[in-house]
Amino acid sequence: MILKTENLSKHFGGLLAVNNIDFELEEGEIRGLIGPNGSGKSTFFNLLTGIYRPEEGSRIWIDGIKTTYLEPHQIAALGVARTFQLLRVFAEMTVLENLLVGHHLHVKYGSLSAALGTRTKRDQESSLRDEMMELLSFIGLADFAELYASELSVGQRRLLSLGRAMAMRPKLLMLDEPAAGLSPVNVDNLLKIILGLKERYGLTIIVIEHILKVVMNTCERITVLDHGQKIAEGSPEEVKNDHAVIEAYLGQEMADEDIRQILRG
Ligand SMILES: Nc1ncnc2c1ncn2[C@@H]1O[C@H](COP(=O)(O)OP(=O)(O)O)[C@@H](O)[C@H]1O
Ligand SMILES: [Mg+2]
Repeated sequence: MILKTENLSKHFGGLLAVNNIDFELEEGEIRGLIGPNGSGKSTFFNLLTGIYRPEEGSRIWIDGIKTTYLEPHQIAALGVARTFQLLRVFAEMTVLENLLVGHHLHVKYGSLSAALGTRTKRDQESSLRDEMMELLSFIGLADFAELYASELSVGQRRLLSLGRAMAMRPKLLMLDEPAAGLSPVNVDNLLKIILGLKERYGLTIIVIEHILKVVMNTCERITVLDHGQKIAEGSPEEVKNDHAVIEAYLGQEMADEDIRQILRG
């Protein structure tokens, strides 16, 4: 079990944003986390990564280590990396520099450099550069390595933020709406890249989406939140036929006809 929560809760004033969530994730899994807007998905990530402090009685373990009240950098050092719903890249740095910074932020806290301890600094830097260039090839940005991040398209920036998270050499990768703002072609491309990264680097992944369709073909299991609570969990097939899920989605005004289609069909 790479991740486990019990009774995980968080309130903001009178609002229970995350309400008593029990959650388990096996190593090597790719899990979809879906739910309507405001259902608590991002807050769940913020609790897992130490950005928000959970309520009393909440418990979180990562790789068997109790992390409930650890700081973000301590959780990162355990091999947890994430992307944010709102894009975060350093616009005034090149694509390659963005990755190197992502990597150094991690190494500063972790002890990963121990393995490289006997090498000279220059060797370390050049092998790190090779590693980051390999990562860039993997996500299709190698040709843009020397461009400023500000010169990239939205789709490329999404890929770059994925690359920055990967630069931390995570074992658990948490993606918050990685496909937001992408065209359907770019969404397909992104999903392929995510699955490829999972295979190549042996990752465990949780991916937040609010569109069921996007995670349907990618995830073996899907967890559904509504009003901060876990209302369903299972295979895509089970989840899309689940009554509570249909209610949660159709109960609110949905602009996206696709979602209605999928939930009805
Ligand atoms: N820092 C915060 N302060 C107050 N309310 C918050 C904060 N973060 C999230 N919320 C509220 O918690 C609920 C869940 O939000 P969020 O986790 O962002 O939902 P989702 O990611 O599923 O769209 C929403 O009602 C949101 O307004
Ligand atoms: Mg969110």
